[in-house]
Amino acid sequence: MFKDKNIILGVTGGIAAYKSVEIASRLRKAGASVHVIMTSGAQNFITPLTFREITGNPVVTTMWGEVTNYNVEHIALAELADAVIVAPATANFIAKASAGIADDMLTTTLLAVQAPVFFAPAMNTNMYNNPLTQGNIKKLTALGWHFIPPAAGHLACGAEGVGRMPEPVDIVEFVHNWFSRTMDMSKLKVLVTAAGTHEPIDPVRFIGNRSSGKMGYAVAEAAAARGADVILVSGPSSLEIPCGVNAIMVQTAAEMRKAVLENYNSADIVIKAAAVADYRVRNISDQKIKKNDDELILTLDKNPDILKELGELKQPGQILVGFAAETQNLIEYARQKLEKKNLDMIVANDVSRKDSGFNSDTNAVKLLFRNGQVEEMPLMSKKEVANQLLDRVLSLKQ
Ligand code: CTP
Repeated sequence: MFKDKNIILGVTGGIAAYKSVEIASRLRKAGASVHVIMTSGAQNFITPLTFREITGNPVVTTMWGEVTNYNVEHIALAELADAVIVAPATANFIAKASAGIADDMLTTTLLAVQAPVFFAPAMNTNMYNNPLTQGNIKKLTALGWHFIPPAAGHLACGAEGVGRMPEPVDIVEFVHNWFSRTMDMSKLKVLVTAAGTHEPIDPVRFIGNRSSGKMGYAVAEAAAARGADVILVSGPSSLEIPCGVNAIMVQTAAEMRKAVLENYNSADIVIKAAAVADYRVRNISDQKIKKNDDELILTLDKNPDILKELGELKQPGQILVGFAAETQNLIEYARQKLEKKNLDMIVANDVSRKDSGFNSDTNAVKLLFRNGQVEEMPLMSKKEVANQLLDRVLSLKQ
């Protein structure tokens, strides 16, 4: 994958700069030609000589000095690049990049580059969570730049929290996966459901659940980015519809069922991440219910199990993936659902964990397959879970 690729490794001034040596080394071992550009801040943490030894290439430290081997033109590296990785990317550097500033070789190269750009942020948790930094990340993400989510843990400033640069092996793998995934789902039609359904009680109240839709939206986004034709059937959610995805918004389980069945036959892959309400109110009041009595008894009827129905209608070649949100007996309950609903894979989610499940940006799931295999995935962003999940689905399809 990296063989004969020109990778620009931008190193900015954070304590994690020393880890970038390992990134350079791994990329070189994988066959890439690595060209390092250091900001002046980075040179306070590590010397250019280290990178020169590791990469076998000259290291760019300034716009103004003699640059051996490279075309003297200051955007030569931008033209050469197959990818740019900035690791660590400090808050200051991200801010400069998002403002379009070009006051050193790395910012100048980024402004001119056409190749994919990957940032591995590393900073104090509060700096990372600051709306200014988040706004800058959002702006660059919208331009198609990729952010490798920082890890949680012990930070150099003594604090605990998110902001630590991901391990070099994970950064290299992220970029590797990105290259190998490009457009590997074109010609496939993917039907995704997401978010919880709302079952009305009266015109102002409903029965719902805590599903945010983040996991399903991440799957839809990832599949679309890989070239699939994606239909997202979503319950109410505050999330933005991902770029390139056709969305059908629904409220109730009955509406979700109708939209899913209408699109099922033509779908190659169905991923049911929605948290469908299991019951609906029998008599929905036309008017707002007044609190006249001491108790209110609602009679609920069972909703159809959409996924079970899809499992019964499944055609050869179709891949059906379900989710199991559990608070106990995760594997056992998930396996039962896999079998009962005739699924090819089920994503088992322990929703009692704070870092997983509803409304979290990260997820630690277990994947269960028909052959009895159980694959335990580490904690990662829902985006990455989505891509890993699609990788497994594609291998099932072969
Ligand atoms: N599902 C569905 N229709 C329903 C209920 C669930 O399509 N009426 C799907 C969900 O989208 C999910 C899977 O079935 O992919 C499992 O959902 P979950 O709520 O975990 O399980 P249930 O089958 O509802 O079982 P229980 O609530 O008893 O755990």
